[in-house]
Amino acid sequence: MCGIIGYTGPLNAKKILLDGLSQLEYRGYDSAGIAYFDAASKIQLVKKTGKVANLKEFCSRIQDNAHCGLGHTRWATHGDVTDQNAHPHQAGRVTLIHNGIIENYRELTRDYGLEGKLKSQTDSEVAAWVLDALYEGNPAKAIQNLLNHLEGSYGFCIMFADRPGEIYAVRNVSPLVAAYTHSGAIIASDLTALIPYTRRYFVLPEQQIVKLTAYQLTLYDKKGHPEEPEYLEVNWNMDAAMKNGFPHFMLKEIYEQPEALKNTILPRISKGLPDFTDDQIPDSVFETCDKIHIIACGTAMHAGMVARALSEPLLRIPVIVSIASEFRYEEPLINENTLVIVISQSGETIDTLAAMRLAKSYGSKTLSIVNVKGSTIARESDYVLYTHAGPEIAVASTKAYSVQLAALYMLICRMAFVRGKYSRDQSAAFLSSLLDVIPAMETMLSRKEEEKNLVTHLIQQSDTFFIGRGRDYAFSLEGALKLKEISYIHAEAYAAGELKHGTIALITEGVPVIAIATQERVFSKLISNVREVKARGAFVILLTKSSAVVEGNLADIHIRIPDVDDAFAVFPIAVILQLIAYYASLGKSLDVDQPRNLAKSVTVE
Ligand code: G6P
Repeated sequence: MCGIIGYTGPLNAKKILLDGLSQLEYRGYDSAGIAYFDAASKIQLVKKTGKVANLKEFCSRIQDNAHCGLGHTRWATHGDVTDQNAHPHQAGRVTLIHNGIIENYRELTRDYGLEGKLKSQTDSEVAAWVLDALYEGNPAKAIQNLLNHLEGSYGFCIMFADRPGEIYAVRNVSPLVAAYTHSGAIIASDLTALIPYTRRYFVLPEQQIVKLTAYQLTLYDKKGHPEEPEYLEVNWNMDAAMKNGFPHFMLKEIYEQPEALKNTILPRISKGLPDFTDDQIPDSVFETCDKIHIIACGTAMHAGMVARALSEPLLRIPVIVSIASEFRYEEPLINENTLVIVISQSGETIDTLAAMRLAKSYGSKTLSIVNVKGSTIARESDYVLYTHAGPEIAVASTKAYSVQLAALYMLICRMAFVRGKYSRDQSAAFLSSLLDVIPAMETMLSRKEEEKNLVTHLIQQSDTFFIGRGRDYAFSLEGALKLKEISYIHAEAYAAGELKHGTIALITEGVPVIAIATQERVFSKLISNVREVKARGAFVILLTKSSAVVEGNLADIHIRIPDVDDAFAVFPIAVILQLIAYYASLGKSLDVDQPRNLAKSVTVE
């Protein structure tokens, strides 16, 4: 949450900051601001509520050159959405931007007598004033001292009025990545802001200070001695972070799914079996555990729900899925024999990270499924399986979900093989079915007009219900989340058998019910539930496999997916559910990629 960027070098800093903020906008879009040293080495500050475009338009009227500056796009935590609360914040000689939450800001306000000084309601400005009070001409020393006073999470980029051309940065939990390129030094909360300039970067180690100048980037260890950064390479390219002719990132990312699946699956097949040798995940991880605990948030958690529905009956060991924000405050029943699988697109979601740290403290082995290379969860887990979706920009997750599923399916297959639940032939057949989902998804993408037309009724309604049984229920959770987050239509997923214990009271004439019926085992049961809602006037959108036999008047709209194996139906179903949400949002003329109140990477509790 909150996108931050700093640049110093020979290029046009204002342009780099503003372009970077556009790339980072998915991290928050309540307000945006920049600060930079002008030609007279004075710090200028421009900040505005609203989106980055608003700030850009305002900045286009200011004619001055800058080569060093900071930029911030905000997701409000402390304080309303106002110009004053927008970052950067200035306090005496200090100008800073912040991502995170300073938990002890009240005590600091009292201890440093800041009550009358604060111009904003933010915890970030408090940190700026404390730093100013500690600053005696040595930036690194003052920042080091500041860290001793702070509780909470932070990614700070800081400029000092008497240090033109220099940027200092430090972080605790909140992410920061940095690079030195032939055109200056750059730092940001996210890789997407760096890839136009370099693919070589490093993750700023926690509580270590980095100093950026136009000619040098210096990382200091915790004792203040210079240290060589550990550089990583990313194979994302600029195209991956552009819309490439699509009207929205979300639609582009929905279309990228077949490719993302190939990139995630194919390099991990060897001799017809899933193979994690290159990921350095030994089979012993799968052999020794007697329980699996999956932890994640949002869409990633829904991928976990599908994995649970698939793996428990197959592996015959308990598979539990926990919402990370709940798990982290529980006393979980896990131990050194539990395999904890942590799923996160960004690898930075704070609740997921905290939950993983808790699991480690219980001695459990942790295996993360992460999309962003070098992210905190990836680095701190015992094992990491990277998904290869490329950057996901739209706030509503799509391609990250399907590659998380693909990675989970491969893990489950390998586990079944090494635990003797699957023979070599069965494992190979499972993998072959997994590969079959790629053309099945392509088929659904080629029929996108169907989803476009079916939202006509949906967008006139205020509520929608998704129903399914077993795996279909797990799929429907993600369908409901997608719809509500970008169309603002209230959407809930229910296990279909549970409907008549209360929820069916809400079914009246015209209420949309999206029924997912792809699982042979419970198909007839589900169809009975559909009849029940139909009898009460529901507008039924039924999703089945092609070969399913249903009476003609059961559904108002019937969409058929290709006849994939039941266990794999989630992939083509996901495409339909994503497209329904996309067209519903579009049909209501909403901001598809940046829905209200949300942010892509949730780095605050
Ligand atoms: C936010 C995003 C979701 C995402 C969730 C978990 O809520 O809007 O799309 O599923 O965080 O994010 P992660 O990066 O951990 O997968």
